[in-house]
Amino acid sequence: MTITSNPHRTLVVGNWKLHLNTSQASLLLHRLQERIKIYRDIEVVIAPSMLVLQPLSVQIDRRKFRLAAQNAFHKDTGAYTGEVSFAMLQDIVHYAIIGHSERRIYFNESLEMIREKVASAVRNGITPILCVGETKQENRAGETKQVLHDQITTALADLTSTEVKKIVIAYEPVWAISTFGGELAKPDDVQKRMDFIRKQILDLYGKRVADTVRILYGGSVDQDIAGGYLSIEGCDGVLVGGASTNYQKFSGIVDTAYRLRYGGGN
Ligand code: 13P
Repeated sequence: MTITSNPHRTLVVGNWKLHLNTSQASLLLHRLQERIKIYRDIEVVIAPSMLVLQPLSVQIDRRKFRLAAQNAFHKDTGAYTGEVSFAMLQDIVHYAIIGHSERRIYFNESLEMIREKVASAVRNGITPILCVGETKQENRAGETKQVLHDQITTALADLTSTEVKKIVIAYEPVWAISTFGGELAKPDDVQKRMDFIRKQILDLYGKRVADTVRILYGGSVDQDIAGGYLSIEGCDGVLVGGASTNYQKFSGIVDTAYRLRYGGGN
């Protein structure tokens, strides 16, 4: 059995975005539960729509899966019509995706709003999966490092280093997300960005925190290419969009994560 040098559990997160109504989501979870086994070193997380979180929380096999919210509001309670708070989600989800580029671009979420959401999630015992990444334009203009620096430093500004240790950062270049073009990022380039992200954490919070923070890759990941990203030194997992709503593709990604950790088949 060949365990990789990665000391963390591999994290495979499925972001279902605005797909699947209650019965479709329940059926997909049922199929995933049949197909995916319990893996000690692999953590599988599902982020369905807000509406579906509650019923899935009853159906879910907690030995195999954890739930994540795709978003929530930073105030705990109050006169904020239409919102759902992290406080309301704390018994249902383990994680929350925060700062996804679709939220930043379509819903004008600012760096400050994302900072407030990260702080609110942590205050309510929910682990943020903080998404960061540059647009194609920023990439071409050589601004990637500056963008990542600004997104990371602002989002984490309200946290203590003990809190930062627990969070997950997902590097998702906007241009690599299927809905924004889906250009495949080269694993070598992703490695450089991940190293840069970890270096930011090192400079701000020290080695112990930098070694502990988990960093994922996201952007058009499917079962055929997941291995290339999961093999990157320091990559702790993947954040999957489109392929996560197909049980064969998503469980194929989990199988790849398993093979990379243990070698051979499963
Ligand atoms: P795709 O895998 O569809 O490119 O989506 C990535 C993503 O945005 C996950 O959060």
